[in-house]
Amino acid sequence: MKIIRTINYDEMSKQAGGIILEKMKSNPKITLGLATGSTPLGVYQYLIDDHKTNNTSYKEIRTFNLDEYVAIKKEDPNSYHTFMQSKFFNYIDINLANSYIPDGNASNYELECLRYENLIKETGGIDLQLLGLGPNGHIGFNEPGTSFESRTHIVKLSQDTRIANSRFFPSLSDVPTRAITMGIATILESREILLLASGYAKAEVLARLINGGIDSIFPASSLKLHGNVTVIADDDAFKLM
Ligand code: F6R
Repeated sequence: MKIIRTINYDEMSKQAGGIILEKMKSNPKITLGLATGSTPLGVYQYLIDDHKTNNTSYKEIRTFNLDEYVAIKKEDPNSYHTFMQSKFFNYIDINLANSYIPDGNASNYELECLRYENLIKETGGIDLQLLGLGPNGHIGFNEPGTSFESRTHIVKLSQDTRIANSRFFPSLSDVPTRAITMGIATILESREILLLASGYAKAEVLARLINGGIDSIFPASSLKLHGNVTVIADDDAFKLM
C-alpha cells in the first residue's frame, strides 16, 4: 500500500481530488467507484470547484456507488441516492444514466445484488474505487467477519455502524438495519483503490490497517491483498502510529 500523509482534511481531499482528475484526464471514459459518508465530501467539493473553474467534463464517465440502505426510497433524504445527488451529481455534468447505486427498495434483493454485480462486470469493471474507512474497519458495508470472497450482498448493519451513522438520522431507531453493499471481492477487483481516512476517530483503525495482519475480522485488511492501493490520511488519523 502506498501511504500519503497530509496535514489536514482539506489537504487530504485536495490530494485525492487531484489523483481523480489526473486519471480522468488520461481516461475520459473512466469508471469510478464512489463512496458516501463524511470522508469524501471534501473530495466531491474539490471536484465541483474544479468543474466550475476548469469545466472538466463528467459526460463520458461511469460511476458505481459502494452501497445503499435497504428499505429506503431513493427520494428519502437519508438515501445514498439523495446523498450523491445533493453532494456531487447536481453540480457536475454527469450523465445520470451511467451512474449506478444499488436499489435499496428492490422487490427482490437477491436479484438486485446479482444485477448490480453483473452490471459492474458487463461495463468493464471499476478503474478507480474511492473508499472511506469504517470505525470498525468496514469497507463499503462489509462488516467484521465478511468473507473476502463476498460479492454484492445484503448485510445486517452492525450496532457500531448504526450508532456511527445515527448522526444523519433523527434517532438511532431510524437508522436502517440492513444495506446492499458491493462485496469485498467486488471491491478488490477494482483496478486501483484510494482509501481516505481523516480525524482522530479513525486513528485506531488506520494504525491497525497499516501495522496489523490480514484477517476477515478486520475487513479493510483485505486491501493488503490488492497491488494498487493508495491510503491518504491526515495527521489526526495518524495520531496512534
Ligand atoms: C460509504 C461506505 C462506508 C463509509 C465508512 C466511513 O459509502 O461505504 O464504508 O465509507 O462508514 O464513513 P465516514 O466517512 O462517514 O466516516
